Amino acid sequence: MIKKTIAALVLSACMSLAAHADPLSYARYDQVRTTDLYLDLKADFSHKMLSGYAELTLNWIDKNARTLVLDTSELNIAKVQVLNAAGRWTAASFMLDKLDVEKGRALRIALPFQPQKVRIYYRTAPSATALQWMNPEQTMSGKRPFMFSQSEPINARSWAPLQDTPAVRFTYSARIDAPAGMRVVMSAENDQQATGAGGWKFKMAQPIPSYLLAIAIGEIDVRNVGPRSAVYAEPQRIEAAANELVDTEKMIAAAEGLYGPYRWERYDMIVLPPSFPIGGMENPRMTFLTPTMIAGDRSLVDLIAHELAHSWSGNLVTNASWKHFWLNEGFTTYVTTRIVEKLYGDEVAEMNLQVEQEEAMASLAAIPAAKQALLTRDPDSSAASYTDTSLVYPKGAWLLRTLEQRAGRAVFDPFLRGWFDQHAFQSATTQEFVDYLKKNLLDAHPEIMSQSELDEWLYGPGIPATAKHAASPRLAALDAQRDAWLKGELPTAELPAKNWIALEWMHFLNGIDGKASALQMQQLDQNFALGKTANNEIAYRFLQASVKAGYNVREPLGKFLMSVGRQKFVVPLYAALLKNPNEKDWAKSLYAKARSHYHPVTQASVDKAFKQK
Ligand code: BES
Ligand code: ZN
Repeated sequence: MIKKTIAALVLSACMSLAAHADPLSYARYDQVRTTDLYLDLKADFSHKMLSGYAELTLNWIDKNARTLVLDTSELNIAKVQVLNAAGRWTAASFMLDKLDVEKGRALRIALPFQPQKVRIYYRTAPSATALQWMNPEQTMSGKRPFMFSQSEPINARSWAPLQDTPAVRFTYSARIDAPAGMRVVMSAENDQQATGAGGWKFKMAQPIPSYLLAIAIGEIDVRNVGPRSAVYAEPQRIEAAANELVDTEKMIAAAEGLYGPYRWERYDMIVLPPSFPIGGMENPRMTFLTPTMIAGDRSLVDLIAHELAHSWSGNLVTNASWKHFWLNEGFTTYVTTRIVEKLYGDEVAEMNLQVEQEEAMASLAAIPAAKQALLTRDPDSSAASYTDTSLVYPKGAWLLRTLEQRAGRAVFDPFLRGWFDQHAFQSATTQEFVDYLKKNLLDAHPEIMSQSELDEWLYGPGIPATAKHAASPRLAALDAQRDAWLKGELPTAELPAKNWIALEWMHFLNGIDGKASALQMQQLDQNFALGKTANNEIAYRFLQASVKAGYNVREPLGKFLMSVGRQKFVVPLYAALLKNPNEKDWAKSLYAKARSHYHPVTQASVDKAFKQK
């Protein structure tokens, strides 16, 4: 009997090479879909593992299917049970496929019938790619350990066996046991009054894709910052975090005014320890944030606007596979600027957009032409031809902005709201957006964009020549001053930088990167104390330009790299240091100290930069 089921499983492994749309998942969601997930897990900090079971509720589509295929990565599976017609849990046989370095292992469960529920008992590996387990020394208080997840894009499978594809949505609930003195939060309904006695309980009533599953555990305080928002953070950081995030409700209201009601009830945020490898992650009801967004003057809160915007673009309407990533991030980048405009006015929004577009144009040189499209024309059978993930942010936004400018907001805003409304809680492909675009905009107004221009945006390299570039008068004035300063015609002390907002500094520093001399960088530093800025977007650009110019910034750069773990900053800074023969050895010794402060994914990227040298 067992032999026969194993043979059937092996056969199913071969057959699943048959086409189904998401090449990064083994799941056969054409046959069966998860509708609900229950996680019952215990967090064991001494072994850096979660253990317990996942219970999946299933909706069978193909009546002949007898195998359930789930994604896993480094999971240790103890046993699998299915719920039989008599309401009893009975053992089911299973096997794990051989390892694929990108996708992990398919878990194949043999089913004598189509059960409504399965339970998988498992434990995670200490090296689970989604989870970072931190020792107490890596936290602010130094007293208790900390753990957080980052599931997007395909790491949820390293902490739960599931259909790890954005094409499948499910509701979820969880019960998590954690050591005393710690709080657990998840991307779900969080009870501020909970004590954790009997386990921390969570419920997510709206269906979400697997990449939005999230958990954090640590010594965490909570402070309300608005009628439907609270911030969670380590106790030593809660005050600064709450102060930085006071505009949250205004942002939610601004987004609602544009795209309709916020559908997730609460919008809470957690500020994580500095090793959080990205700026922010739009986990529903609980955005995860880097502490480097706390500048003290709220100058980096467009990050919140971005993660909040995902409540419509991404979380409500989700890319059906990672090929269509621009539907998540390009749309979100567009919506972010609209929110920024509502809160901070046209002038700031235009500056924000110009900096975004100029950085996009500057990034093109390093991206192969074939990767510069919004999406590949290749069928979705392999992820190898997926396009560059960073360019789709500004380029996708630019396409929407172009449509908006030509249609006018009176037409475009309801159009975009309709896209979110009509596809709410669904996963969508680019073709579905193109169909919607034609039916609801271009059929009636063909002059807005021709098919060939639309194709150029979607499948062509670079930014189409027809695109309008943002042009802020304030940044134009600054360009003139910067050019004069670079030529030595305007003394550093006469730069009117005392009144510059963060975006002006970012624009100025982008414009001198690779051009200013060591002496000029020193003068800037002496006049404006750039080495001491609390704004990390400014600090990053200043440090980068200094390393390239050969101006010695070891002191502030060492501090920066020891305290900031955000990949976007850390990786290019090490790369710049490695290009400079005088800094190579110093970079090596610094990294030896800093490495343990970084997230495993950041470590892997920096390791790679060192290997290439
Ligand atoms: N969803 C992304 C983060 C992400 C993307 C994680 C792909 C894993 C794979 C998030 O919304 C994001 O874009 N964060 C940016 C924010 C920035 C554009 C304001 C970041 O972290 O830099
Ligand atoms: Zn995003």
